Amino acid sequence: MNICCIGAGYVGGPTMAMIASRCPDITVDVVDVNEERIAAWNSNELPIFEPGLDEIVTETRGRNLHFHTDVKEAIRAADIVFVCVGTPTKAAGIGAGKAADLRFIELAARTIAEVSDSPKIIVEKSTIPVRTAEALHTILSANSEHGTFQVLSNPEFLAEGTAMVDLAAPDRILIGGETTLAGNQAVETLAGIYASWVPRERIITTNLWSSELSKLVANAFLAQRISSINSISALCEATGADVDEVANAIGTDSRIGPKFLKASVGFGGSCFQKDVLNLSYLCEHFGLPEVAEYWDQVIRMNDWQKNRFTKKIVSTLFNTVTGKRIAIFGFAFKKDTNDTRESAAIYVCRDLLLEEAKVAIYDPRVSTDQIRKDLLAAGVPQDCLDCNLEISESAKAAADQAHGIAVLTEWDQFNKLNWPTIHESMFKPAFLFDGRNLLNHAELRAVGFDVYTIGKGAEGS
Ligand code: UDX
Ligand code: UDX
Repeated sequence: MNICCIGAGYVGGPTMAMIASRCPDITVDVVDVNEERIAAWNSNELPIFEPGLDEIVTETRGRNLHFHTDVKEAIRAADIVFVCVGTPTKAAGIGAGKAADLRFIELAARTIAEVSDSPKIIVEKSTIPVRTAEALHTILSANSEHGTFQVLSNPEFLAEGTAMVDLAAPDRILIGGETTLAGNQAVETLAGIYASWVPRERIITTNLWSSELSKLVANAFLAQRISSINSISALCEATGADVDEVANAIGTDSRIGPKFLKASVGFGGSCFQKDVLNLSYLCEHFGLPEVAEYWDQVIRMNDWQKNRFTKKIVSTLFNTVTGKRIAIFGFAFKKDTNDTRESAAIYVCRDLLLEEAKVAIYDPRVSTDQIRKDLLAAGVPQDCLDCNLEISESAKAAADQAHGIAVLTEWDQFNKLNWPTIHESMFKPAFLFDGRNLLNHAELRAVGFDVYTIGKGAEGS
């Protein structure tokens, strides 16, 4: 069997590497229009960092896993085509700022239709609005002379930073298909591939629309939990309660559960905001404005939390950060990834730069280029970046001569720093803003830091 995956990104690359590893009899071609990205997949420096990914790519690349740019040939040879191209939020036109931009999905469908001369199963991996499969099917059948197609929805639930573990032992695999004989057969074919390593009872099959919608709903529920605990973090600060203690107390209720209750400077990542906005847009489209408004609030709360954190830095530093050096520890949207998409750090740094602070950023995985690109795209003028942004070699270097430190990503290494030396090199009072509630605050206070944490009073633990 031959599999082709269109889109060698954070989802396509790791997912296909796992299939190639667990199914040595299947040939997997991962194709992408981006030549640079493909070259990186074929080098020793993979384009994305994911613990465990290097090993599995080394095992399979050149054996039954191939990365290249010959999209048409790979599609022609494939029995199953996974569509893993991006579905960003629309920037212009109807639904701008909320609806998903499906141009890459449509382009993929048209290319598949153009080159196919045999029956194929088309798998939507990209997160898409409900009923996209219908559109895909229409485009495919209207444009193909010889191909016949079954469209399946098979959303990916991996989280970055733990992608390989999530792929190796997923909570569930979800496959949606047409409820016809041919549809059921296609679902079975795809289920058979996953069954090589995933227990059958974890492979859930549904109709197409349930599968498409479940992906959006799963991300919306996860994002909602973070916004919920973040809203409570503000109340904790006002009342002297401790948000970690509250999270622990409520999380032990098995109906609530302990996961995704970590208060933070705000959630980021390529999916949460995009998918909640997309869900809300769908609700509006189907005439359910109250439901749309309910989900919009999850995003509003997240924006408020990021903004609240920056304002806290400015007000604590005596209401001005102009010309003051502020060290930023961590720029990725979470630890163990080099991905910065929608990272809270982008917005905190942007707002500090616009307040004319001197911002010194250290992140162990994110490149200087990426940081500059993100800040420019977020609206920081070039000359402001040139004058006031420094990308530091280490956390210690970033903190040297700084007035404050903001921890924005929960990298483990920040807990192992030599904090007394860092304190010594800073202006006094030395302020520390822990946007992840990561550090040992009592120890840091003993060292001499003025510590601000999310969801704890000034003297919080
Ligand atoms: C993407 C989507 O963002 C997400 O909604 C979906 O669930 C899975 O696919 P990700 O893999 O993180 O997630 O995106 P990205 O890293 O941007 O990768 C997409 C790749 O598709 C890029 O490398 C891009 O070059 C490629 N692409 C895009 C094509 O090969 N052809 C196209 O027409 C468009
Ligand atoms: C998410 C979903 O978890 C995954 O199933 C889906 O396929 C893609 O979107 P991802 O964005 O990679 O995965 O990471 P996730 O671990 O969900 O974290 C998202 C953001 O929420 C990060 O910024 C993280 O720091 C933040 N977060 C997470 C919190 O602030 N508190 C928490 O308790 C958990």
